[in-house]
Amino acid sequence: MYIKPNWRILTIGDGDLSFSASLWQNFKPKQLTATVFDSQQTLEDKYQHHAIDLLKTDSNQQLLFDFDVTNPKSWGALKKQQFDLVIFQFPLVPAFEDPQYFHNKGYISINTFNRLLLRKYLIHGEKYFLDPNGEQLCYITSKDVKPYSEWNIENSLNQDLEHIHYLGSTPFRIENFPGYKIRNVDRDKHVKDTQGITYIWSPRTERELPEELTPKTHQGQEHCQFCKAGPFVSTSDKTLHEQSKKHQLMQRYEDQYRKLIS
Ligand SMILES: C[S@@+](CC[C@H](N)C(=O)[O-])C[C@H]1O[C@@H](n2cnc3c(N)ncnc32)[C@H](O)[C@@H]1O
Repeated sequence: MYIKPNWRILTIGDGDLSFSASLWQNFKPKQLTATVFDSQQTLEDKYQHHAIDLLKTDSNQQLLFDFDVTNPKSWGALKKQQFDLVIFQFPLVPAFEDPQYFHNKGYISINTFNRLLLRKYLIHGEKYFLDPNGEQLCYITSKDVKPYSEWNIENSLNQDLEHIHYLGSTPFRIENFPGYKIRNVDRDKHVKDTQGITYIWSPRTERELPEELTPKTHQGQEHCQFCKAGPFVSTSDKTLHEQSKKHQLMQRYEDQYRKLIS
């Protein structure tokens, strides 16, 4: 993960604060604002081991609880538009906490809720968090396995986003973040360290980074962008793919997302 020590960084949706604490200790940013969706009490109740105490040690740190990235009213003391980089590690909507919430909105899939969460994160990142004169980077780290791969982060999230652009991806190396435990969204468990991918956005279309980024794959007529399938060798090969259950499910996810953002 490309991070420089003189940057001002905002982390979104930290679970037990172990990512932000590791970032602070190992990358020494100029300023770090770490945010948690849960209240401090909920975090302490949920996670037996957390990193709150590691983070209250310096005046260049800010710690905010009850911070919902989709809702500006929850941002309280956040100083706006002052960050070089915003990071959301392994985002996931809290599906288990309030099943009724999802039940009431039964026609919207959890896949779509996750896409909408990430979309709001990118829109708010550009509009409220990033300093227009700063580095202007927005990272999402996720996994290329189901259900995360079904959010189609690379190809779908960019739709109708005028002010922030997808630049590419890079492997997330957890070994550079000692002490970081990727947290399960609702339980005191940590997720297996399977390979993560950091997807990078910026309001600037041309943004030089020191590492070469992996560009979008499976573009063009002979591929399926939704399922990342192909190249198809013939029209019937493509048709066969489009009739598959996997493709039809992805098509439904895409259609629902498109409908809701339009
Ligand atoms: C799988 S957990 C990962 C936690 C942590 N980022 C990590 O890497 O260990 C997903 C996180 O997304 C957070 N989250 C979900 N919806 C959010 C929202 N609207 N605003 C901020 N955070 C959110 C959850 O609270 C949860 O901590």
